[in-house]
Amino acid sequence: MNQKAGDTIRREDRIGYGIGGIMAKKIKKVAVLTSGGDAPGMNAAIRAVVRAALSSGLEVDGIRRGYMGLIEEDIIEMNAMSVTDIVQRGGTILYTSRCPEIKEKKGLKRAVSVCKQHNIDGLITIGGDGTFRGAQDLSELGLNTIGIPGTIDLDIACTEYTIGFDTACNTAMEATDKVRDTSASHERCSIIEVMGRTAGHIALWCGISNGSEYVMVPERPEANDEKKIIEKILSKRRVGKKHHIILKTEGMGDSYKMAKRIEEATGIETRATIIGHIQRGGNPTCKDRVYASAMGARAVDLLLEGKTNRVVAYRHGKYTDYDIGEALAMTKDVDPILYSLTKRLSR
Ligand code: F6P
Repeated sequence: MNQKAGDTIRREDRIGYGIGGIMAKKIKKVAVLTSGGDAPGMNAAIRAVVRAALSSGLEVDGIRRGYMGLIEEDIIEMNAMSVTDIVQRGGTILYTSRCPEIKEKKGLKRAVSVCKQHNIDGLITIGGDGTFRGAQDLSELGLNTIGIPGTIDLDIACTEYTIGFDTACNTAMEATDKVRDTSASHERCSIIEVMGRTAGHIALWCGISNGSEYVMVPERPEANDEKKIIEKILSKRRVGKKHHIILKTEGMGDSYKMAKRIEEATGIETRATIIGHIQRGGNPTCKDRVYASAMGARAVDLLLEGKTNRVVAYRHGKYTDYDIGEALAMTKDVDPILYSLTKRLSR
């Protein structure tokens, strides 16, 4: 659905829950799902939701394979033991998927009706913007929903932290350190491509932590000026620099072709390394586990407070929450101080 013109949600579409959802009704059972790209720390968030809900006297269901599993009724009962030994594990024990059906009215109505059949009073969804759009539409149909930001990309505007970002950056940083060793030994230039979809946060953080000479982020298209990069490589060679690292966000052109062009223009052997999906895996860092635990528990508290259509956020040193519509309308830039630092420190 996602707010198509002429497709407003009618009162009779609010299946079973009545206008305003179950705000007036006491919450007895919550459900949790993970959706979109997985992120290290999602398991810690699931554990926190389950344990916090149980400690507040609620029942908990786990929905497998995201919204797809909800529509297909792939639902399991969860207890304290269902989430034992997972806080340290990457991936998501509930599996995940991207589900086009949840953008359609039919899929949404089916999802709400499955929740009703299972007596689910509140749904906690862990994922990114797409996941929150689904939660917003479900909330408009009367189901109480809360989103938790879980994505390695850090591209959710209302929050300064998203679960998985820290682990992904550490993974990419360590991989880049290794590439640097061989790049230095061969006196080469290396292009390292990291994930981020349309956001440059991973590249920026890795660029600084790896001491790279160039950082290419989509938020600053001028950084993609290959001519300037080539000039900088040549001028640094002239003053004795033996190897060069370019940190590049995915989606900013073909890294292998760029390596070839740089090699031709500079005469310096150049290689491209695409770090890829290893950034999404691995044991979450301490930071990801702690934020995921706090956000998971907060999501349960929001449902207990009778809230719906909210996303949990971390902002200005505090855990807080935003209306999902408001959160989705916000925009986010890379940190300008960090971005200027990459230039200042790479002289
Ligand atoms: O959103 C997380 C992310 O890993 C992005 O950084 C990347 O562009 C995308 O997902 C890759 O998705 P998939 O695993 O479906 O190829």
